[in-house]
Amino acid sequence: MSKEPIRFGLIGFGAWGKHHADSIHKTEGAELVAISARSESSAAAAREAYPNARVFTDYRELVACDDLDVVDVVVPSHLHHEIASAVLNGGHHLLLEKPMGVSVAECNSLISLAKEKNRLLAVGHELRLSSLWGKVKELVEEGFIGDPHYVLVELSRNPYRQGADGWRYDISRVGNWILEEPIHFFDMARWYLEQSGDPVSVFAAANSRQADHPELQDNFSAIVKFEKGGYAVVSQTLSAFEHHQTVKVTGSKGALWASWSGALDRTRHPTFSLRAFDGEEVKTLPIEKITGELFELEDQIAMLVKALNEDKPLSCSAEDGRWSVLMCLAAQESVDTGQPVEIEEFLAKESAPATT
Ligand SMILES: NC(=O)c1ccc[n+]([C@@H]2O[C@H](COP(=O)([O-])OP(=O)(O)OC[C@H]3O[C@@H](n4cnc5c(N)ncnc54)[C@H](OP(=O)(O)O)[C@@H]3O)[C@@H](O)[C@H]2O)c1
Repeated sequence: MSKEPIRFGLIGFGAWGKHHADSIHKTEGAELVAISARSESSAAAAREAYPNARVFTDYRELVACDDLDVVDVVVPSHLHHEIASAVLNGGHHLLLEKPMGVSVAECNSLISLAKEKNRLLAVGHELRLSSLWGKVKELVEEGFIGDPHYVLVELSRNPYRQGADGWRYDISRVGNWILEEPIHFFDMARWYLEQSGDPVSVFAAANSRQADHPELQDNFSAIVKFEKGGYAVVSQTLSAFEHHQTVKVTGSKGALWASWSGALDRTRHPTFSLRAFDGEEVKTLPIEKITGELFELEDQIAMLVKALNEDKPLSCSAEDGRWSVLMCLAAQESVDTGQPVEIEEFLAKESAPATT
């Protein structure tokens, strides 16, 4: 007997939200039943694209619907905590885009709320579902390179999009630019270096092409050290062209080198490759399934349907989402002070009661 489809609500119908809608629409076992936008024009676009979905301009009306299984939140980052809290309080499971929050306190509060309401909280680090980046993880896990010691995640791309009302270029709404794209790379680095324990310190540097906006960092690099000696380099430039990402992982006996290139981050026609050295020979390994964020977004929706229907694990847990935010915030402090930041000290400061 086939199961009833998982009923999705979607909050946010902007550039990335439209891709979420498309992915939900395409996924077997998922149904897009409600959408919330903010402006009338986005609501009209949603109605036209999905005539069978109910469309609201106030997310509270969507949250109040009692026929939804899960709500997918794809709004500017400063609104994540407010809207995600409303979703969980409304009794729905939650898929929350990255960053999970713009502070550690926001992440902690969502983790507690999800536990209290006994709801799933999945975070949108879809790169974990990539056939390419996932193959790197699989090889590391099976010991192909021995014990992993070093990870490089590097991106060279064109500038960020502005976002609705320019929110992405406004630090009070975006949080910082490390929370935008490098957050995915911190997530990957910690994922690959799982055997190295938790991150213990971050040292970072950044600069901007705009003298009057030093906070909008076009170039950013960080070194993250892990408990058991492994370390990762995360580096990004927005002053380049197209979208080119590299991952290198080396271990006690071998090395991996994965690359992905596209005219844009959202291309459906990328080129990608994986070269692998097991200590004896270098091979180019086949990657059978096409990879890129649009494909991984579809896989993320399918993963969530499985998690809800079959109790399968999430690809990125709330705890993973919190770690990624924490590393980004520690990196920003390091950029600001010019000093390495110890994660434990940073956390103690973050959780200290506010002084008046
Ligand atoms: N995982 C990834 O790879 C990835 C990629 C891209 C973006 N993201 C994340 O996705 C989120 C959205 O990014 P985006 O690029 O889609 O931004 P965007 O193009 O600016 O879209 C944001 C949308 O949110 C809507 N919105 C704002 N306040 C709202 C509210 N109160 N209720 C309902 N809708 C509201 C806006 O509505 P109007 O159109 O009506 O103004 C806009 O359409 C961000 O957190 C970003 O970090 C993740």
